[in-house]
Amino acid sequence: MEPVDETVYTSLTYNQEGDLYLEDSLQPDVLQGALESSIFSRNIVFFESLDSTNRMGKELAAQGAPEGSLILAEEQTAGRGRRGRTWLSPGRENLLFSLVLRPPIPAEQAFIPTMILALAAGDGVEEVSGVRPLIKWPNDLYVGNRKLAGILTEFSLWEGLVEFMVIGIGINVNWNPDESGDLIYPATSIFRETKRRTPRTDLMVSILNRLDAFYGRMLSGYIDEFYRRWNELSMILGRDVTVESELGTLRGVALKIDREGALILRDSRGEQRVIRNGDVSLKFA
Ligand code: BTN
Repeated sequence: MEPVDETVYTSLTYNQEGDLYLEDSLQPDVLQGALESSIFSRNIVFFESLDSTNRMGKELAAQGAPEGSLILAEEQTAGRGRRGRTWLSPGRENLLFSLVLRPPIPAEQAFIPTMILALAAGDGVEEVSGVRPLIKWPNDLYVGNRKLAGILTEFSLWEGLVEFMVIGIGINVNWNPDESGDLIYPATSIFRETKRRTPRTDLMVSILNRLDAFYGRMLSGYIDEFYRRWNELSMILGRDVTVESELGTLRGVALKIDREGALILRDSRGEQRVIRNGDVSLKFA
């Protein structure tokens, strides 16, 4: 049996065959206790199976769900990705959750909560597993040239301000993506990187406690440190990239990510292009 760390939120249990295994089901009451002082303990909505936690998050937010609501599923039957794609994940192996936030910010700043979730998730993965993901614009977490996690943010505006936003993240934790033939890009998981299973509750708690602290700092106006880390952890800056975007296919050097989360690219004519949404590809040596 592979070694497992004993943690506060998971337990080692004997199965019917008498083997020791890591009991790792996601339990809302355990999560609630572990997140007690955070806004994410206020309203935890758990599903064994659901079409999409983002879809549900938007429905609940529109009905008045409080800030911090956490929608969590062991399995999604219609998980949504960016740009109309599907998010694939086998049940009970990974993390799939969405958060309802109601930050009093204008639409141009709606990128900031997404940015801090990516930072919190990357730091949480590193703390719990030792794997350090980098950020691939706009908000994917990568290890090497393989995707570890993706974030989908959807929001509703009211008179130019955010009324609510739903930020959903899928993190590949314990499955082995090499066994799935359906993926459209190279994927990895914490298990693939470490050859060990990671307790998912510990990972969630680490991410959400961090995010709670980051969100508090963001609301107090301390955002420079996040932009700095966001650029430092970017895996594309200074590199030749190809971007499929609303402006078509663009090639150039990725220069920086601006205050609104846009990618600034220097194209072959030396002109700077501002790209708000797209998919980046990189050449790997
Ligand atoms: C992407 O990389 O394209 C974004 C993927 C986002 C997936 C997560 S899984 C939890 C939440 N619910 C969804 O339907 N999508 C997000």
